Amino acid sequence: MQFEIAGINKSFKESFMDMLGVLSARYSSPLLEAPAPSAEELENIYEAMMRAPDHARLRPLRLQVWQGEGLNRLVQVFVDYTLRKDSQSTPEAIERARGRPLRAPMVISVIARIEEHPKVPEIEQVISVGCSAYAMLLSLDSMGYGGMWRTGDIAYDPQALKDMGLAENEKLVGFVYVGTPLDRQIKPVEAPIFQDRVQFITE
Ligand SMILES: Cc1cc2nc3c(=O)[nH]c(=O)nc-3n(C[C@H](O)[C@H](O)[C@H](O)COP(=O)(O)O)c2cc1C
Repeated sequence: MQFEIAGINKSFKESFMDMLGVLSARYSSPLLEAPAPSAEELENIYEAMMRAPDHARLRPLRLQVWQGEGLNRLVQVFVDYTLRKDSQSTPEAIERARGRPLRAPMVISVIARIEEHPKVPEIEQVISVGCSAYAMLLSLDSMGYGGMWRTGDIAYDPQALKDMGLAENEKLVGFVYVGTPLDRQIKPVEAPIFQDRVQFITE
């Protein structure tokens, strides 16, 4: 069976093996440097993200790409949040907050635009966007970039979300920190044992 992805013809088996390879080797990259993907590469990633399962095709996904000077706007939101939580924050705590969004050359806010729908509860819309975020991580890995999904209290703070430009009906599913990994070593991580987590129900 042959099929075409982005102009490349591959056998089904070849592509399936590629996909399992990418899935099994994915890992988060906390240490990221430039370059980050170009706008054109981000468009390819966006297309992959948009193939996430999406009940009733509500298209809940929205992205904000913070880069260059724009990252300083995100820094300000982090600093304001820290001071709002504790007006007595130490200079060290403020410096830590300032440094957080600068851990990568690009930060992407992955946002779920929640719609009222008789058959699609909020959780399903958030899950769909979570699948898109995962598709982003997988795409980044397969393109030689790296990413790390982060949240923290700030991702659930209504004022911080407002400061970032989210509407009332929007949830921040996560910040994906994006760039080129400084360290591409794959560290083996043990998964829970298959038999402990997978129950076959056959009759
Ligand atoms: C919704 C969500 C939020 C997360 N938030 C954070 C975070 O704020 N800080 C952090 O260090 N890791 C966070 N993680 C975990 C990392 O993204 C990563 O998955 C974890 O460090 C394990 O590494 P691995 O992906 O290479 O297995 C979050 C993961 C998810 C799914």
